[in-house]
Amino acid sequence: MDWIAIEDQYSTGVYAKRSISISHGSGATLTDNEGKTYIDCTAGIGTANIGHANPRWVKALAEQAAKVVSCPEMFPNQQRAQYMQELITAAPQNLTEVFFCNSGTEAIEGAIKFARAASGHSEIVAAKRGFHGRTMGALSATWNKKYREPFEPLVPGYSHITYNDISGLEAITESSAAIILELVQGESGVYPIDPAFLQAVREKCDQTGAYLIIDEVQTGFGRTGKLFATQHYPVKTDFLCLAKSIAGGFPMGAILIDEKFGKFSPSIHGSTFGGNPLACAVASETLKIIQEEKLAENAATLGQEFMQALAAIDSPLIREVRGQGLMVGVELKQKVAPYLKQLTDLGVLALPAGMTVLRFLPPLVITREQLQKVVEAVRTVLTVE
Ligand SMILES: Cc1ncc(COP(=O)(O)O)c(C=O)c1O
Repeated sequence: MDWIAIEDQYSTGVYAKRSISISHGSGATLTDNEGKTYIDCTAGIGTANIGHANPRWVKALAEQAAKVVSCPEMFPNQQRAQYMQELITAAPQNLTEVFFCNSGTEAIEGAIKFARAASGHSEIVAAKRGFHGRTMGALSATWNKKYREPFEPLVPGYSHITYNDISGLEAITESSAAIILELVQGESGVYPIDPAFLQAVREKCDQTGAYLIIDEVQTGFGRTGKLFATQHYPVKTDFLCLAKSIAGGFPMGAILIDEKFGKFSPSIHGSTFGGNPLACAVASETLKIIQEEKLAENAATLGQEFMQALAAIDSPLIREVRGQGLMVGVELKQKVAPYLKQLTDLGVLALPAGMTVLRFLPPLVITREQLQKVVEAVRTVLTVE
């Protein structure tokens, strides 16, 4: 059966598809329908931090599926209650409440809605190069015009400042509801935040009353070397948006909310699937796996070694290697598409970020030996004779 051709026939065309059809995975590897195995440095675009087909995750999923799946938040549920407690315990101390949803863009939409409702203001400041999702509110915070222009007019009240430029913070005023930022800008090219900029943002928020929304959809759950990237910095966030790896690959999102907000009015926001017991069960198991198997620590140690090894590649094609933990970008002096294809041929799956950055987001269970093979493959494709 030609699964690739069948998908091509029926899908909308919005995805630039790769030329291999994935059959199954295990840990940090994926296998295609031809039986070829790849080292996976895409992790489902950062969703598979605990690896593919983790047996503990599979067991948690099956056990909860046999109990109850459909149980919206109007009915309290033991599994949800337990996970709420575990997540809040693991989160920075000031974040004391949680809203569950089903994806990253929904977490951003929800945080923007809560910030507008709590502040009574509508203006949202975002960063150039930022990516926050594709629903209308999150898309309005997203910078890339390729994603925005076909859908204009977007939601009014948004402006964009230069990331890591303190002089632009004048845009945050008394009439701002919030500023939204990634701590490592992922989709646009893997750009880590400058700690001094983040500190200045917090101070400006404190002066003006604007809220700070941190988008940890991609950086969360151990990716950058801490459970949450915000834990690298002594800066409090008012809303922390999570998704991707929260439930080990099962669709889920969450907004963690500062204690100062107290309770919001009943029915001002909601989600049918949000907080369903199946998502909560696998999220709970995922969190335990990350903590017990020390996956954030693994990301910190191996990420640093990986970046050093990449930076040591002697290639005129490389402009810069940057990142945090196992969120790593190799900026090239030219477009990455042909190199992604060559890496695939050598058995390594990687992602683009923007046009010129090779992005590596492997499962955090990846081994040192697997990462050495990735470095060798990158060296091979970037070596100029
Ligand atoms: C930082 C960030 N925010 C939001 C999103 C949107 O998440 P989703 O695709 O789950 O809606 C993404 C997706 O890549 C992301 O990287």
